[in-house]
Amino acid sequence: MSFRVVDVDLPDRAYEVRIGRGALDELAEEARVLLGPKARRVLLVRDTGVPDRFVDTLVKDLGGAGFETRVCAITPSESIKTMATVEALLREAITLGMTRVDAVIAVGGGVVGDIAGFVAASYQRGVPVIQCPSTLLSMVDASVGGKTGVNLEVGGELYKNMVGAFHQPRLVVADTELLDSLDARQRRCGLAECVKHAMICGGVPDEDDGHSELLGWMLRELDRIVAFEPGAIDELVARNVALKASVVMGDERESPDAKSGGRMLLNFGHTFGHAIETLEGLSPSGDPADAPLHHGEAVALGMCSACAAAESMGLCDESVVTVLREMLVRIGLPTVVGGLPGVDSIVARMSHDKKAAGGALRLILPEGLGRCVIISDAPKESLEAGLVAIRG
Ligand code: GLY
Repeated sequence: MSFRVVDVDLPDRAYEVRIGRGALDELAEEARVLLGPKARRVLLVRDTGVPDRFVDTLVKDLGGAGFETRVCAITPSESIKTMATVEALLREAITLGMTRVDAVIAVGGGVVGDIAGFVAASYQRGVPVIQCPSTLLSMVDASVGGKTGVNLEVGGELYKNMVGAFHQPRLVVADTELLDSLDARQRRCGLAECVKHAMICGGVPDEDDGHSELLGWMLRELDRIVAFEPGAIDELVARNVALKASVVMGDERESPDAKSGGRMLLNFGHTFGHAIETLEGLSPSGDPADAPLHHGEAVALGMCSACAAAESMGLCDESVVTVLREMLVRIGLPTVVGGLPGVDSIVARMSHDKKAAGGALRLILPEGLGRCVIISDAPKESLEAGLVAIRG
């Protein structure tokens, strides 16, 4: 079978992202080639949301390729993303008898990929990990670039992704057949990260690489994308992975001094978004049964806030806000939400964000369509304007 392949060309750590329906079928043979003849064991961390048939086939194929596989299941949630879960998996690795030539394989969404990646980064100071993302969000963002880690709760507050490591995968396999089992809400949430990429794409180091067309392409193809037509989705994943790969290649470790903003640009919508994501009782539809917000919904609202804040500072004009809102509405993502607490308490939560550097809150704000910049000293009135814009 032929798949789309995107290269993540990092010095000494280059790897491929293979994209397409059925891509998992070739993973066991690929793993044997990549890991070499001495590799014997695989710790397979699977998301309970992935249909059993994919995992069962993979375990059988791995057996055929000479691997002993132990499967550990995780039901994803922010509350399972803890050091205790990592420790439990590390104990499994020890009882399986894993050595440094053996590997972790993650099959699941972002939570599972982050936990399994951190287990691989820490076990015996680092073993290979192969990421097999199962959600659109993890295919286009979380599985590529080597960020791994877990949350910490301190004083009753959840500090997201506060502990972790950069640990690049040896291979990423994005089998888009796995997306068939996602519900409509999970699909919309994945599309929020694609909109994020489209809104920042002009800011990547090389503007001649075609990524700056991502916004135009998405706007043209949005009906096919929202309908989740397989051809459109494979192309969407490939274009987004190519964008993410080019950002990571330009700034692997999210340096504060990266040229053109680097990896930090990928946090567009996330500083506002993280501050509201963990608030209890917020519903994307207004129906309490839909609370709390999912990550993609919080990012959609966060991008609306960031655009409104930028407009209030005179950084961008109204057309940016209009295009963003139109895309989100067509996808079915929220642009306003009821029940937000007062501005001061949300701003205080934003300051908890680990992207607050030396006390200054760093925001990724648009200057135009597809162009974002990092602003460290946004006035409080602009944060207020951003939050007022999403108050339903
Ligand atoms: N999801 C943001 C990053 O990978 O840097």
